[in-house]
Amino acid sequence: MPTNSILILGGYGNTGRLIASLLLQETDCRLVVAGRSLVKAEAAAATLNAQAGSPRVTAAAADAADVSSLRRAMAGCSLAVIASSTADHVAEVARAALDTRTDYLDVQFATAKVHALQRLASEIEAAGCCFITDGGFHPGLPAALVRHAAAQFDHLQRAVVASVIKEDWKRVEIGISTAEEMVRELAGYQALEYRDGAWRQARWTSLWLPQMMDFGPPFGRQYAVPMFLEEMRGLPGLYPDLEAVSFNVGGFNWFVDMLVLPLAMVAMRIAPTQALGPMARWMLWGLQRFSRPPYGTVLRLEASGKVQGQPKRFDLTLSHADGYWFTAIPVVASLLQVLDGSARRPGLWFQASIVEPQRLLHDMQRMGIEIR
Ligand SMILES: NC(=O)c1ccc[n+]([C@@H]2O[C@H](COP(=O)([O-])OP(=O)(O)OC[C@H]3O[C@@H](n4cnc5c(N)ncnc54)[C@H](OP(=O)(O)O)[C@@H]3O)[C@@H](O)[C@H]2O)c1
Repeated sequence: MPTNSILILGGYGNTGRLIASLLLQETDCRLVVAGRSLVKAEAAAATLNAQAGSPRVTAAAADAADVSSLRRAMAGCSLAVIASSTADHVAEVARAALDTRTDYLDVQFATAKVHALQRLASEIEAAGCCFITDGGFHPGLPAALVRHAAAQFDHLQRAVVASVIKEDWKRVEIGISTAEEMVRELAGYQALEYRDGAWRQARWTSLWLPQMMDFGPPFGRQYAVPMFLEEMRGLPGLYPDLEAVSFNVGGFNWFVDMLVLPLAMVAMRIAPTQALGPMARWMLWGLQRFSRPPYGTVLRLEASGKVQGQPKRFDLTLSHADGYWFTAIPVVASLLQVLDGSARRPGLWFQASIVEPQRLLHDMQRMGIEIR
């Protein structure tokens, strides 16, 4: 069987280069690292080849806004990992993948991107391609954790997932397009939680007096507010006894949470085009200026239900010192299931819905995620 070649768009960014490094470690695939700068792609490929000890990585220039450059980069690849902050260009990227019959996995958090892909779902299936959207940490893991929890119960009744992300942003170089994508999504996010038989707007009390969750040391109890993820939408249909389910997100730091995000929400409603750039730069500044240790990323699941008629509780805490590793590891653990065919099916899927959760957790633990 020929060795797979995988394109990583954004392959020299924070997330992309860790995905590349783990793919070299976990598979025998060849990689093509791409972005708009051939010079940066070549430098990343050289570093990765030195890590691999053999020339498994090549470089390419590709712009997500330019379908023909994408088609050239994807030619000869069986899969494209979209680790670039290019949710705005999902139509071009999907078109190139369909034209070249390339499988696809993206990591961006952008509701409009999911809707754009959903409009292409029947074309994706007809082309025989496997498209996986919302890969990574969150989106990417929360609904998979709920699926894992469901296997521990006869009747799963309640599942709350929450994250805390405390990154030392001073040591991270983030592109302005990435910060703009964060602002666009956070300013327009939906605070939905599932209760009383439907996805409903969170009560104002849970936004102003958010629930506290115990993330364990070193973070202890932290507040977290509901944030709707598309991957969660189908869970009540899968588990009919589910009375309450939600994903909740913790804050960045007081300055970003209390000043930048509320202002961004208003500004993005009044003048989105003019506000986006300044808000993104202000957010980056706020992240770098006000984030304080301890640093680390935690994902916590609290589930309850019944086993043989008796009430039972099941909690799980996943953590890693670095949020970017915590994004790359689930992507590569999911790709292992795609590459061996067990999670490769034609059509459009969420990472959280196509993977087998127990193996995912096992592989993530092996790659460095701490699981308690
Ligand atoms: N699901 C999750 O858990 C999760 C977690 C973290 C991040 N993310 C997402 O991952 C993405 C990358 O984040 P990051 O922090 O790694 O960003 P980053 O370090 O700023 O890297 C972004 C990469 O995208 C490339 N890029 C930007 N525009 C491009 C274009 N038009 N065509 C081709 N490449 C382009 C950049 O290269 P050039 O600018 O040189 O082209 C760079 O390599 C973002 O969408 C972010 O929201 C998801």
